[in-house]
Amino acid sequence: QAIHLSDYRPPAYRVTHTELTFELDPSATRVKARLHLERHPEREAGEALELDGEQLTLKSIALDGQVLGEDEYRLTEQGLRIESVPASFLLDTEVEISPEENTALEGLYRSGGMFCTQCEAEGFRRITFYPDRPDVMATFSTTVVGDAASLPVLLSNGNPVERGELPNGRHFVTWEDPHPKPCYLFALVAGDLNKVEDRFTTMSGRDVTLQIWVEEENLGKTDHAMASLKRAMRWDEETYGREYDLDLFMIVAVNDFNMGAMENKGLNIFNSAAVLTHPDTATDAAFQRVEGIVAHEYFHNWSGNRVTCRDWFQLSLKEGFTVFRDQSFSADVNSAPVKRIEDVSFFRTAQFAEDAGPTAHPVRPDHYIEIGNFYTLTIYEKGAEIVRMLRNLVGWEAFRRGSDLYFSRFDGQAVTIEDFVTCMAEASGQNLDQFMLWYSQAGTPEIDAHGEYDYARAEYRLILRQRTPATPGQSDKQALHIPVRLGLVGTKSGRDLALTLDGESLGRDAVIHLREDEQEFVFTDLAEAPVPSLARGFSAPVKLNFPYSREDLAFLLANDSDGFNRWDAGQRLALLALDDLIAAHRNGVEKVMDNRVVDAFRTLLTSDTDDKAVLAEMLTLPSEAYIAEQQPLVDVDAIHAARQFVKQSLAVTLRDEFLAVYQANLDDVSYAPEPDQIAARSLKNVALSYLMSIEDEEGVALTQRQFEAEHNMTDVRHALTLLTHSSRDDLADPALKAFGQKWAHDPLVMDQWFSIQVSRPQADALERVKFLMDHPAFSLTNPNKVRALIGAFAQNRVNFHRLDGEGYKLLADVVIKLNRLNPEIAARLITPLTRWARYDETRQELMKAELERIRAEDLSPNVYEVVEKALA
Ligand code: ARG
Ligand code: ZN
Repeated sequence: QAIHLSDYRPPAYRVTHTELTFELDPSATRVKARLHLERHPEREAGEALELDGEQLTLKSIALDGQVLGEDEYRLTEQGLRIESVPASFLLDTEVEISPEENTALEGLYRSGGMFCTQCEAEGFRRITFYPDRPDVMATFSTTVVGDAASLPVLLSNGNPVERGELPNGRHFVTWEDPHPKPCYLFALVAGDLNKVEDRFTTMSGRDVTLQIWVEEENLGKTDHAMASLKRAMRWDEETYGREYDLDLFMIVAVNDFNMGAMENKGLNIFNSAAVLTHPDTATDAAFQRVEGIVAHEYFHNWSGNRVTCRDWFQLSLKEGFTVFRDQSFSADVNSAPVKRIEDVSFFRTAQFAEDAGPTAHPVRPDHYIEIGNFYTLTIYEKGAEIVRMLRNLVGWEAFRRGSDLYFSRFDGQAVTIEDFVTCMAEASGQNLDQFMLWYSQAGTPEIDAHGEYDYARAEYRLILRQRTPATPGQSDKQALHIPVRLGLVGTKSGRDLALTLDGESLGRDAVIHLREDEQEFVFTDLAEAPVPSLARGFSAPVKLNFPYSREDLAFLLANDSDGFNRWDAGQRLALLALDDLIAAHRNGVEKVMDNRVVDAFRTLLTSDTDDKAVLAEMLTLPSEAYIAEQQPLVDVDAIHAARQFVKQSLAVTLRDEFLAVYQANLDDVSYAPEPDQIAARSLKNVALSYLMSIEDEEGVALTQRQFEAEHNMTDVRHALTLLTHSSRDDLADPALKAFGQKWAHDPLVMDQWFSIQVSRPQADALERVKFLMDHPAFSLTNPNKVRALIGAFAQNRVNFHRLDGEGYKLLADVVIKLNRLNPEIAARLITPLTRWARYDETRQELMKAELERIRAEDLSPNVYEVVEKALA
C-alpha cells in the first residue's frame, strides 16, 4: 500500500488543457471533462493511459470523439485504464457524483447551502477521472451551471469570461485560468454569497480586484482579512519581488473545512475560523492567526502555484518555504521577538513531540500510505526552520538572489526540494550537501554543550556534541550541519564579549558551525569569565543542553542581549524549579518555592520596559505540555500540581506587583488589533491570571468585572476562561450560561465556548464533553466543532489522562465514528493516543487498548496508517 519516493516516474501522459462543465445538484452533480492529452516526451509510446478516479459513476466516455465500448477501457476502485491510446488525443468523460453524501470534505461537497471543493492533496479524483498528481499542469476552462435562485454566485479559478441564463431557472458562468496548474489547485464555489470588494494596484501597475465572499451574516467580519491581504500583497512585492498575476483575487469563507485554508489559484477557500474576525467575537490571537493565514495562502501564489511540487514527497518545498514567508511577514508587521517566541514555544512543544513519537518522519518523507496524514508540524514548521537556517547561512542578499533564481528558473514547473536548495547554493557559492541531511533525517538533534573558562589563558573552551536519536525506520543518524548562533556574556560587565576564534574576530554575536559529532571551539582574548548564550533566536531546530546553574540563568534573564534567549533563560529557570516541585509532589514531600524565580519575577514586574509583549511572554510559565516534553516520563498530575503551585506562590508573594501591572494596562480605547494594544492586553491578562489563581476577593472581582464589561473578545474570553477554570462552580456556571446564551447564534464563538469548558481542570470535564456532544450547536460532521470539543478535551491533560481510562475511551469512540465520516479528521484526532509510550504503565495499557479497539474496525487508509505506526 505504501508509495515510495524512489519509484517516481514522470506521467506517461500529460494534460495540456482541461475543460470542465459542472451541472450542480446536491445528490447528482454531473461533471463533463474534456482532457487534451499527450504522451510525455520522456516516456515510450504504447503505454496504457491510467486516470485516477474514486467514487465516480461513469456515464459516458469518448476518445477523439469516438464513444468507447465497454471492452475498450477498464474501471477499478482507483480509476480508469485505457490500454491503447494515440500520442495526442482528446478524452471526453461524463460522471455523476453526490456532493451531499461527501462527509470527508475532499472533492466537491456541501457546506450548509453552498457547494465547495477541497482538492489538495488528492481530492480532484473524487470530481472526475484525471491524472491526479502535481506534475501534470494544465490550463483550465470551467463552466459552472446551477440553480439561479439558490446558487446566485458561481465561482472558479481565473477570470469569468461568459455568463448567461439557461432554461428551468438555471444559469451558468464560464471561468478561464490561463496559468497552467495541477488539479490540486482547482476550486469551485457556488452558493448564496455576498462579497466585500476592494482594489490593489501591483508594483507594475496591474489593477487587481479583491473579493471576500461570505454568507450574509458574516459581512461585518471581513475588514481585517482584507487589510491583511493588501498588506501581504505589498510585502511580497517589497520583500521577494513577487507580484500577483491575475486581475481578480477571491477568498471564500466556508464553515465546514478540514484545515485552515487552501491556496487554489485565484480562489482561496478558507475555513471561516481562519478568515472572519470582529472585535466582539475574535481574540487578538485570532486576529493574528487570520493575518498569518491570509498571507500564507496568498504567498502560495508563487511558492506553490507558479512553482509547484513534482510529487507529494516534496510537500515541504511549498509548505516549509511558505510558512517561513508568512512567519517573516507576521514578524515584520507585529512584534518580531514575540512572534519568534510564540513560534518556537509551539514548535518545541508540538513538533518535538511528533519527532519523538511513532509517526516521526523526515521533512521529506521517503514513503507514505496516505498523503493526507503528512500535513504535519514536521513538514510545515520544521520545513520552515530549515528554510530559516538556509536564509541565515547564506545571508539575506544571497537568499533573495536564490529565491529569484528559483522562481525564474522553475516558473510553471513542478520541482523538487533539491532544485530549491541548488538555487541557494548557486546564489551563495556555498556547499549545502551536508545541509541536505536536514530533509532526509527524522528526529530532533540534541546538542550537549559544556564549556570552561581558563583564567590564566583568558580563553573559553566550548565543546559541542551532537546526536540524533533513532526514529522509526532510521536507526543510524549522521552528523548534521547545525548553525549555532551565540554570544558570550561577560559575568562582570553583563555585556556580550568580543569573540575571537582561531585568530579571527567574529564580532559579539556570531554563528559557529557544528558539522561533526563533536567539536571544540576555543574563544581567546576574553578578559572576563562568560556565561554562554547559545542557539540565539533558536538558530536551529535542536534541543540544546548546557549545565546552567540557576544563577547563570538568572544572570542571562537579566543581561542577555538576545531577547529570545532572555526569555528562554527564564523558561529554563522556571523548568528547574518545576522539576524540584514535580519530584516533591511525587514523593509526597512539602513543596518549597524557589526564591530565585520569585526574585526574577519581581525584577521583571517592577522594571521599566518598553516591550510589554515580550514581558508578557516572560511572565508566562512553560505550559503543562512543554513541561511534560522535558520529563523522562510524564506524570500529568504532578506537572499540573507543580505548575499551579508556582503560579500561586508567585501570586501570593507578588500580589501588589501583579495588581499594579494589571491596573497600569487597563484601557478603554476602542479596540484595534494593533501591536501596542495587543501587548498591553496580554500583559494585563497575564497579571489577571496570577491574581485569579489564588481566588481572593479582589482577583475574583476584577475578573468578573472584566467579563461583564464586554470590551472585546480578548478580554471577555480570558475572564471567562479564568472563571470557568477556577475551583468555584458558582463563578463558572453563571458566566458560561450568560455567554452561551448571548452567542448561541455565532458558530465561531460557540466553538470557543465549547473549548473553554472542556479544558477546565475540574473533574467534571469529561462529563461536560459528553453532555455537550448533544448540544444543538455541536455536530460531528463539522471539523471545527470536533476540534473545539473533542480536540480541546484531548489537550486537557489531567482529565484526558484520567486513570479510569474514560478519556481515552471517549476519544476512541469519536475516532471510530469519524473513521467513516471524515478519515482525515479521524486520523488527526488519534495523535494524543499515539504518544502512549511517554506515560506510566497503567496509562500505557489503557491507551494501547483503545488503539487496539480502533484497529479492529474496518479502517480508512488514514486511520490505518496512524494506528499501525502507533502500535508497531
Ligand atoms: N495547502 C494548504 C495550506 O497549507 C493545506 C491543504 C491541506 N489539505 C489537506 N487535505 N490536508 O494552506
Ligand atoms: Zn500552505
